[in-house]
Amino acid sequence: MTKHNQWSSKLGFILAAAGSAIGLGAIWKLPYVAGTSGGGAFFLIYLLFTVFLGAPLLISEFIIGRSTQKEAISAYKSIAPNSSWHFVGILGVGTSIVLLSFYSVVGGWIVNYLLRSLTGSLSKLELVDYQQLFGTIISNPFQAIGAHLLFIILTVLIVQGGVQKGIERVSRFMMPSLFILFIILVTRSLTLEGAFEGVSFFLKPDFSAVSSETILFALGQAFFALSLGISTMVTYSSYLQKGESLPRSMFSVVGLTILISILAGLAIFPAVFALGFEPTEGPSLIFTVLPAVFNEMAFGTLFLVLFLALLLFATITSAISLLEIIVASLTKGSNDTRRKMAWTSGIIIFTLGIPSALSFGLLENSLIFGLTFFSLMDFLVSNIFLPLGALLIALFVGNKIPKEILYKEISQGSSVPYQLFKLWYFLIRYVTPVAIIFVFLHALGIFSFIKKMVLTFG
Ligand code: PHE
Repeated sequence: MTKHNQWSSKLGFILAAAGSAIGLGAIWKLPYVAGTSGGGAFFLIYLLFTVFLGAPLLISEFIIGRSTQKEAISAYKSIAPNSSWHFVGILGVGTSIVLLSFYSVVGGWIVNYLLRSLTGSLSKLELVDYQQLFGTIISNPFQAIGAHLLFIILTVLIVQGGVQKGIERVSRFMMPSLFILFIILVTRSLTLEGAFEGVSFFLKPDFSAVSSETILFALGQAFFALSLGISTMVTYSSYLQKGESLPRSMFSVVGLTILISILAGLAIFPAVFALGFEPTEGPSLIFTVLPAVFNEMAFGTLFLVLFLALLLFATITSAISLLEIIVASLTKGSNDTRRKMAWTSGIIIFTLGIPSALSFGLLENSLIFGLTFFSLMDFLVSNIFLPLGALLIALFVGNKIPKEILYKEISQGSSVPYQLFKLWYFLIRYVTPVAIIFVFLHALGIFSFIKKMVLTFG
């Protein structure tokens, strides 16, 4: 077996972990789900979940990974041998396969957009044309499947390069550029006439729009955007040297993800209202609104190309983390079979993703439980498997690892006041499991059922 993979520096790890977190979740999904789920109130609930459940969970995954230096499945095995806890790792790897299969469909749309913008055929279109163009990109079976394939090939090529050469190198230069471009976008969007309405839609909570489903979506969104619940961060932190500070890394990843979420919202919603779009447009939202904002700018075409390139990078850095957990669990840290496993997984994921790629065209009307294949996969992953995985990870850390060991792990590489540790421990041991179970039951309608029973018979 070759030497264990390692990040070359602490910054490398933070950038890669933030690269995994920041992707379609914060930039594409959050705005459109917030748009269809009431705007500000959804965003606020998402933020609360991110801070109070997401952040403690992120540290938990870091602890499991760094303390064992093992990939997702073996990590649970080495902490709790002869138990069934490694099922959490298997669930994570399985979920990653499904997640990546539809994630790369959206990644493919971006590839398609980018190729078109490079040829200049995207600029100066009328608003309607962007909607039409997006319609073609997602519904034409050859384009959808071809672009999905291209995206997977790109992801495999990076992952087969390994931790330092592949993943870290890409993240290092992409993240800072993405921030700068977002600032430019937000500035333009906020200075459009009529932008304020969008700001208030995005930041002013209207709780009348909140349903139990909204809360479940916000929970799923918080985990999705931080790459939590499927042990991605376990695998990534297993490449971390023992001396690095886990809380500091957590603050950086959570802080950057929240920042990008806010920037994405501020880039999109003001423009939605100023340029006459509907916030409830759905998955097409950023693909139709942002090109229109660029049209309002000097050097718009150039900025559009840049933005699409960065969006593609952000998406790729998340996709590689998904593929990495799968490949790492198959190779068990050996680099000899990495290439073979990366390509084999790529082929399986591509095949599984085909019905998702066709969900906006040929299979648009083939519904399962009222959802297209794509939406069903997304629903299962985001709203069932990620929260379920997160619940199990919280139970594992809160019950299977002794408190003293947890404190030792958290304070290794940083001095964490004991009071702060206790707060974290309380959140992970009690608050997180209870909150997740509560949101699940609420969404299942159990509480309204009980209330009705009490009213009827009480
Ligand atoms: N966090 C990524 C995004 O927001 C998606 C992801 C989820 C990646 C879970 C890895 C694990 O795009």
